[in-house]
Amino acid sequence: MARIGILTGGGDCPGLNAVIRGVVRAGVNRFGHEIVGFRYGWAGVLEANTVELTAQNTAGILHRGGTILGTSRTNPYKDEQDGTAIVREVLEREGIDAIIPIGGEDTLGVAGRLSADGIPVVGVPKTIDNDLAGTDVTFGFHTAVQIATDAIDRLHTTAESHNRVIVVEVMGRHAGWIAAYSGIAGGADVILVPERPFDIDEVCERIKRRHASGRTFSIVVVSEGAVPRDGSGITISTDKTDAFGHARLGGIAVELEGVIEQRTGFETRMTILGHVQRGGTPTAYDRVLATRFGVKAVEAADRGEWGTMVSLRGTDINLVPLADAVAEPKLLSDDLYDTAEVFFG
Ligand code: F6P
Repeated sequence: MARIGILTGGGDCPGLNAVIRGVVRAGVNRFGHEIVGFRYGWAGVLEANTVELTAQNTAGILHRGGTILGTSRTNPYKDEQDGTAIVREVLEREGIDAIIPIGGEDTLGVAGRLSADGIPVVGVPKTIDNDLAGTDVTFGFHTAVQIATDAIDRLHTTAESHNRVIVVEVMGRHAGWIAAYSGIAGGADVILVPERPFDIDEVCERIKRRHASGRTFSIVVVSEGAVPRDGSGITISTDKTDAFGHARLGGIAVELEGVIEQRTGFETRMTILGHVQRGGTPTAYDRVLATRFGVKAVEAADRGEWGTMVSLRGTDINLVPLADAVAEPKLLSDDLYDTAEVFFG
């Protein structure tokens, strides 16, 4: 019997509780292990802030959004701190044999570093952005796309009624997966993603062409991380960064609203969906994927397959090296964007 720690780090994501439940049910009932939750991501490890997880206290959480463990963007290696030494000491003191961190690039980046230093780790990939390499899909993405699509459907009817251009900003720091999927599903007329720096004149031309052909409204979906080509007159600046040095994004839609209205002459409004995309109930797809990830992760821990991450390949759940998963972001495929472009104005 082993004592296995579990934590949720980085931005929350629909499906985190389903993973926790999967780890606990399989860990306790199938393998006879003890599962210990660390509260608030790596902060809980550094501070030895733990809670014993049982089948009883993780019952009824499958459909709940957020994370019962809480989360944070704490970086154990911030400011040259020897994160590995602190984590090792806490694990020894708490009698914990291994950790299952559930997170995105930052949380799993820390996990990879700990693993390289000999700490037994199995990672679980999480992000609504779907930008982690090593897995076809991350849980939470499907839910975020559904929320964004529902919003675009609603914005469509008001845009149509007022003859307006509506700019919808969705999440997506490095990759435009949410924008592309929700844009295709919601019938967007322009989709702007981080992978393809946009030319604002081209965007305005597309909108004008569409309106010249008799349409009276347009929907522009933009990722928060979309960047204009140089010289476009659009500047987004932020001086706020998190513990991993990432800038806080959000607000490109505000700029676009003004520039599109001014250059096209069409009345324009913007909506920033923001954290609505991360909140609430996971879709059935995400509950199943998260449950499979949780069960597979604890199976891997039971077999001592350290330094790995659970992953979806096709319809199968596999293990991949943790290091591969965080080496670089998984960007939008050209093929998907080309399909979206067929429907641009
Ligand atoms: O990483 C997921 C994500 O949703 C990004 O798209 C976004 O930039 C970031 O989290 C925002 O997180 P927060 O505001 O919670 O720090």
